Amino acid sequence: MTIRRSTVAGIGHALPKRVVTNAELAAKIDTSDEWIIERTGIRQRHIAGEGETTASLATLAAQDALSHAGLKASDIDLIVLATATPDLTFPATATQVQAALGITQGAAFDVQAVCSGFVYAVAIADKFLQSGSHQRALVIGAETFSRILDWNDRTTCVLFGDGAGAVILEAQEGHGGLTDRGVLTSHLRADGRHKDKLFVDGGPSATMTTGYLRMEGKEVFRHAVTFLAETIEESFRATGLTAADMDWFVPHQANRRIIDATAKKLGIGTEKVVLTVDRHGNTSAASIPLALATAVGDGRIQKGQLVLIEAMGGGFTWGSALIRW
Ligand code: UT7
Repeated sequence: MTIRRSTVAGIGHALPKRVVTNAELAAKIDTSDEWIIERTGIRQRHIAGEGETTASLATLAAQDALSHAGLKASDIDLIVLATATPDLTFPATATQVQAALGITQGAAFDVQAVCSGFVYAVAIADKFLQSGSHQRALVIGAETFSRILDWNDRTTCVLFGDGAGAVILEAQEGHGGLTDRGVLTSHLRADGRHKDKLFVDGGPSATMTTGYLRMEGKEVFRHAVTFLAETIEESFRATGLTAADMDWFVPHQANRRIIDATAKKLGIGTEKVVLTVDRHGNTSAASIPLALATAVGDGRIQKGQLVLIEAMGGGFTWGSALIRW
């Protein structure tokens, strides 16, 4: 039997030029390098400057991914872009990226699942490619959270950063087994009853403003490890694979303590965990593709290896996907 698999053809990333260290933040608000490192693992983050937007970072990441894959923009017939910080309320940032790349065919749309956005986007693109409706997808996670932070709220503003990552998924024939390259399984969840624990207090319809990010950090933390472990176990159950079979575990980079606790709960060795939260902070939907690009770039993730991605974020939304690279 042959089936259509969504295989990784290339990966790219883009980060704003400006790096902001914990010390720089501590000079402006009541915080310290020690507190931020101990509670989160974050040492620095990139912050978008003038002219750097979600669409411009996403475009650079997409161009990087196209060149890595050796493909032309005209080879792409689907763009799925995960973001909670679009350039404009509409049109979708994906369409701005499409235009910037000079693509005039296919479909382009945004996905809004906050920090789980990239896992959602991978799952959606995979289903489009599996169906046969599309052949090659640019799957992008891009954010400029610095633009929705309350820079006087030390409980949130130290946590986030800006950036973009992009993966090209290409439909290829597989045998339907676990040795196939590509997305082997994906699992998405949501529970909207948790809205008030992590949200932005503005929007076009409710307030006609953009609003600022608000978070009950402790409550989010408490749910994160449980939900993440649950969704990873779903991926294991669906494939019959275990933590020992994984080559790399590439989690959403919100907090080092959440990542460590989840890995410990599932028996995943720390040497298999890709960590970028120290350099990027929490870049929401961009964090997983940025971490993937880092580990591909430095030679850790190799073709044929098993890579597990997982995330949890506002909504709450959460999910996981297992990819044979
Ligand atoms: O990506 C989407 C998902 N988001 C997350 O996964 C974030 C989940 N939550 C977290 O990562 C953690 O809850 C935080 C990093 C946000 C906070 O860590 P915590 O260990 O839960 O700290 P806390 O909120 O309980 O605060 C402890 C203390 C408080 O002081 P008191 O009340 O004990 O006197 C805070 O006021 O730390 C204080 N604090 C700070 N101190 C210095 C809070 N923020 C800061 C700060 N600098 N930036």
